[in-house]
Amino acid sequence: MRPSAILETAPKLSDNHAVDPLPWYRPIGNECEIFRHAYQERVPLLLKGPTGCGKSRLVEYMAAKLGRPLVTVACHDETSATDLTGRYLIEGGDTVWQDGPVARAVRQGAILYLDEFAEARSDVVVVIHPLTDHRRTLYIERHDEEIAAANEFMLVVSFNPGYQRGLKELKPSTRQRFLALSFGYPPAAVEEEILLGETPVDRATARKLVALAARLREIERLGLAEMPSTRLLVNAAHLIHAGLLPRAACNTAIVESLTDDIEIGNGLRDLVALVF
Ligand SMILES: Nc1ncnc2c1ncn2[C@@H]1O[C@H](COP(=O)(O)OP(=O)(O)O)[C@@H](O)[C@H]1O
Ligand SMILES: [Mg+2]
Repeated sequence: MRPSAILETAPKLSDNHAVDPLPWYRPIGNECEIFRHAYQERVPLLLKGPTGCGKSRLVEYMAAKLGRPLVTVACHDETSATDLTGRYLIEGGDTVWQDGPVARAVRQGAILYLDEFAEARSDVVVVIHPLTDHRRTLYIERHDEEIAAANEFMLVVSFNPGYQRGLKELKPSTRQRFLALSFGYPPAAVEEEILLGETPVDRATARKLVALAARLREIERLGLAEMPSTRLLVNAAHLIHAGLLPRAACNTAIVESLTDDIEIGNGLRDLVALVF
């Protein structure tokens, strides 16, 4: 598996024993409450929605809030069960077992976040199923070991239903094991607050960026694979705050990221010029 695909964080204590600051998250609805209940009842949670709309940030925030370590795996089409459960390594003539990220998360009672879960190979789903019901176990075939999940262990997966390039879907037999939370683009007033909380940009600019996003999200006929996400607005806001002219900032951060088509790009740049 690509090494960058796994990320692990623990609630760390710094020298003065102050807990690291919480990641910043602006709730859009009752998702924090639902997450908390799902954790309390140890029901797995599925986050669905387009890219860049706050799914990962919610998980980071809630893991910190609940005081649990977070193990994130960015799944892709080569992610296999072995990548997740573990493998034997040769070390100085000996074979030693090394736990994969799922085995570590299960043992330490972490929150395990499988990002873009539908992208992973089907053998991953087989391994995950026993963790999603009353069994709460991980069976590692190669190591012939059955691990009972630590009490605090929780599984969260994300899935982008509108993702046009990949045709991968989650099977109903898998989906129905999860509580599901749907993410969309936040209402204008909330998205403005996200920009103000996330970047040092001024309110007038934040408002214009949100207005631009609303216009861009309206035009379906452009056939964009995805609409501009909050993430793109955050990037544009950073560039504007850094001193780039707003039009240039929006063209680089938003337009170029949405399309490679020259004509569509021109149409989008016209809209940018209308707003800024
Ligand atoms: N509700 C939110 N609160 C704070 N920041 C947000 C929120 N939604 C989106 N963002 C911003 O958008 C960026 C992308 O969000 P992220 O959680 O990585 O998206 P996803 O995992 O859905 O692709 C974040 O880094 C953050 O800057
Ligand atoms: Mg994400």
